[in-house]
Amino acid sequence: MIKHLLSGADLDADTATEILDTAAEMATVAGREIKKLPALRGRTVVNLFYEDSTRTRISFEAAAKRLSADVINFSAKGSSVTKGESLKDTALTLQAMGADAVVVRHPASGAPHRLANWVDGSVVNAGDGTHEHPTQALLDAYTMRARLGRLAGLSVAVVGDVLHSRVARSNVLLLSTLGAKVTLVGPPTLIPVDIAGALAPAIDVSYDLDSVLPGVDVVMMLRVQRERMNDSYFPSAREYARRYGLDGPRMRRLPEHAIVMHPGPMNRGMEITPEVADSPRSTIVEQVTNGVSVRMAVLYLLLGGNNR
Ligand code: NCD
Repeated sequence: MIKHLLSGADLDADTATEILDTAAEMATVAGREIKKLPALRGRTVVNLFYEDSTRTRISFEAAAKRLSADVINFSAKGSSVTKGESLKDTALTLQAMGADAVVVRHPASGAPHRLANWVDGSVVNAGDGTHEHPTQALLDAYTMRARLGRLAGLSVAVVGDVLHSRVARSNVLLLSTLGAKVTLVGPPTLIPVDIAGALAPAIDVSYDLDSVLPGVDVVMMLRVQRERMNDSYFPSAREYARRYGLDGPRMRRLPEHAIVMHPGPMNRGMEITPEVADSPRSTIVEQVTNGVSVRMAVLYLLLGGNNR
């Protein structure tokens, strides 16, 4: 098993499949009255969040606690020292406390990679800037496999603000490794020009959502990340929703079996309408549930739970 999980590219097909299979076992724990396993008793997991988060932070905390680890939540937001220094100083503190795993979210792309050089424990990237979010990609893959029975051969459209999306990048890497076909869809201003070649050669790009929908098994809507936009990438929210938002009529262009995903948090009315978000095709709530099982599997396997 790998030591750190920093990128979707850290996972080959066997490792990713082992994580998904382990997550399926972990999911049976969630159905029990006592949702706890002793696997990580005596181990310390630190959640180091330099950026806002609701579901990812809570999900990692629930996952570590269900494995009986000691959990320390460190919310670093508001720190006044420069980012590089503060991260290194914090890393040395965590090191001194004997953290076995550090789960880190940071606004700077690459921060988890730096951290991995400074601590002895395992580092899990819980989202770094616009770069990567590998456990989100794993929980998305888990959800697709659970709903559709397979990953190889699936056609997946990832729609919207690809430019700012670490979720999109990690999904492209992992889904390509697992044999799914990815099409990135959005306005030209929000799809980096060289992304196909840079990430995975086999991905497609389309600027026309309506033409893509009838041929996909999965449509994954991305949040329009206004907090990362210092420019205007589209004329207006209304215009964006008209061309790239998933509403009821568009959803009905999908094949019968197709599912709709969103990592959350949603801009309801912008990239997705409430009718779609709350429809039976939507897996948004399942994604959150599955996230806990997937993060349990990641922590368990990285910390050597299977060979102790
Ligand atoms: C995503 C993130 O923070 O990268 N959310 C999440 O982790 N569930 C996506 C987003 O913020 O749009």
